[in-house]
Amino acid sequence: MNISITKTTTPRQKPDEKNLGFGKYMTDHMFTMDYDAEHGWHNAQIIPYGKIEVDPAAVVLHYAQETFEGLKAYRTSDDRILLFRPEMNAKRMQNSNRRLCIPEIPVEDFVEAVKALVKVEADWVPREPGTSLYIRPFVFSTDCQIGLHTSFVFKFVIVCSPVGAYYAAGVNPVKILVEEEFVRAVQGGTGFAKCGGNYASSMLAQAKAEEKGYSQVLWLDGHERKYVEEVGSMNIMFKINGEIYTAPIDGTVLPGVTRDSIIHILKDWGYTVHEQRVAIDDLMKAGQDGSLEEAFGTGTAAVISPVGLLDYKGTQVTINHFENGELTMKLYNYLTGIQWGREKDPYGWTTEVK
Ligand code: COI
Repeated sequence: MNISITKTTTPRQKPDEKNLGFGKYMTDHMFTMDYDAEHGWHNAQIIPYGKIEVDPAAVVLHYAQETFEGLKAYRTSDDRILLFRPEMNAKRMQNSNRRLCIPEIPVEDFVEAVKALVKVEADWVPREPGTSLYIRPFVFSTDCQIGLHTSFVFKFVIVCSPVGAYYAAGVNPVKILVEEEFVRAVQGGTGFAKCGGNYASSMLAQAKAEEKGYSQVLWLDGHERKYVEEVGSMNIMFKINGEIYTAPIDGTVLPGVTRDSIIHILKDWGYTVHEQRVAIDDLMKAGQDGSLEEAFGTGTAAVISPVGLLDYKGTQVTINHFENGELTMKLYNYLTGIQWGREKDPYGWTTEVK
């Protein structure tokens, strides 16, 4: 892929790395690439960060034909910059695109684009412990038509944001409300795809949960509202009687890169991992009788996030005395150790940006 690069002449002031929050600051440049039926993907460029002109009749604005990804670049103590499993994000975007009728971007092109942009933005990869550069690739239809038909014109964009912890609480237990009224996904729908529509339809539940003092909602399956699926911005795992349980990837749950990595690590550490449906009633019982030892979310933004309390229909269970679990923190330290280059990477998951 031939990427043309135009550097900004007005670089932004970098934010205080101790107070980055999540997704509040954008870097100086972005990657863009266009698609049309005649040329396929073409016009790959890195340009100064700025507004994108979109026609008011663009399909994305009306019918949400869009998919996105999230990955991070990490600065090591010897000043190298590492990406974590970027080809998994590329493949997941291809799966999402197939579901949303968006042309696939070749894995090599996706990874090359990410690397090229991170190289240009190298100074934006923060140094403060616990920080990283969040990378947000997204693709959307710019075809102009109000009728609901196949689109033939698309744009792929990558932007970056230096970030700290996703939750204001940092790496500390969060409170989760089990959602009873709304559902996120059903079989045959788009639950497995990383598309904006899934997140748009989750916002009402999220707003209600936040109003009541919870960080996020835990989604139940859309058919029986009985089985635990995932949390707003992360997959979720439970340690019950020493074994790990998490919802299977069967069409309604997002196939998380962090989820996959943690399952690999847990199995290598000798844990039994059940990728199977867990009924919310059983989970609450396990919470009450103490066999639910730990719960944690996994996600690129959330990393490994301890869950300290679940509320289902007004009944609350506190997990591990609302303290960070031992296994949760061991996983957090090991995974982030690989990502920040502190630990050896026996899996070959990290790729250096040079
Ligand atoms: C990520 O973890 O990368 C996500 O895309 C979740 C998003 C809600 C921040």
